Amino acid sequence: MSPSVGRRVRRRRRVGLAFAVVVLTVAILVSFQAQRESRRGPVAKPLPGPSLRKLAKADDLLLGTALRDQPLRDEPGYRKDLVGEFAAISPENAMKWDALEPERGKFTWGGADRAVDFAAKHGLKVRGHTLVWHAQLPGWLTGGDFDRGGLLRLMTGHVKRVMGRYKGRVKAWDVVNEAVAEDGSLRQSLWGKELGPGFIAAAFEAARKADPKARLAINEIGAESTGPKSDTLLRIVRELKRQGLVDEVGFQAHFNLDGVPETMEANLKRFAALGVDIAITEADVGVPDDAGPEALDAQAKVYAELVKTCRAVPRCRALTVWGYTDRHSWIPDNQPGTGRATLLDDELAPKPAYRAFQDALRGS
Ligand code: XIL
Repeated sequence: MSPSVGRRVRRRRRVGLAFAVVVLTVAILVSFQAQRESRRGPVAKPLPGPSLRKLAKADDLLLGTALRDQPLRDEPGYRKDLVGEFAAISPENAMKWDALEPERGKFTWGGADRAVDFAAKHGLKVRGHTLVWHAQLPGWLTGGDFDRGGLLRLMTGHVKRVMGRYKGRVKAWDVVNEAVAEDGSLRQSLWGKELGPGFIAAAFEAARKADPKARLAINEIGAESTGPKSDTLLRIVRELKRQGLVDEVGFQAHFNLDGVPETMEANLKRFAALGVDIAITEADVGVPDDAGPEALDAQAKVYAELVKTCRAVPRCRALTVWGYTDRHSWIPDNQPGTGRATLLDDELAPKPAYRAFQDALRGS
């Protein structure tokens, strides 16, 4: 090869290499940008007003949603619709024990603080969720082999610490969550098993002491209808009320297309008759993945029925949905094969349920 041909070959190689580097860099930048965009979620387009928040307010109903930390941080559209449509939040996971104290004595308040600060900035009320529950406990606690006294001190200490931190800023708390088993017996959780039924009053006593002005709730899953579970809950609430320890009973209302139980209204009324307020705390309506579009109309009817049921009970003045967009809902993870459980779709567009919710709030 002559020297000039060799030079030409080398130059061509250099140009080729430089070109490849440029192409690669552009590809990386484009993919970063795409990732960033997808993390930022969809743009919130105007929803067909009036907002749910406004309609609920006109009806003296406090409308809330679960708040998830990741989209709170990353997704402007999520934040926009949340603030536009709701007047209250319940941190979905950020105030659970495993989130707050993953290692004994090492506290990670980031997510919970973020939720409370966001709420303060936008004039939203906060429902503290949840202090004493059997799930989402840190491993050091469940595997700790504590004796009765030790466990009781940990429980009451936790209540005091968490409520103390947010005193005056979180005005309502789910103090005890899901204490009753399906058959109406005490759930054999860490608390129920080790401390017996007395753990409930002990948790509420600690909560009253920690923040005497806060509204204290007992929250339950699957107790919407009459039956053994809600009978037991009723007895617990009667006793707590007698001791001046409870202000509100929360019914989660995780529903599906089976609809609102027929006995729900009568059930809520018998609790209200004890002199406590009623809250719907975690409403959603799961839809099978393989169901056609008519399933979304059926879902809309369930949401409307739920709103009507709450409105039919004078003491039911708070309703929280467990997420408001299918993009951020626990249902697909928790019940595979089921999803689309909320009011807005993945792209923050209104579903039939959204309009049905509006109509039900209007009373039509
Ligand atoms: C769920 C959250 O939505 C999920 O993200 C988490 O993985 C599990 O817990 N009852 C409750 C809620 O009181 O705290 C639960 O939330 C749903 C059932």
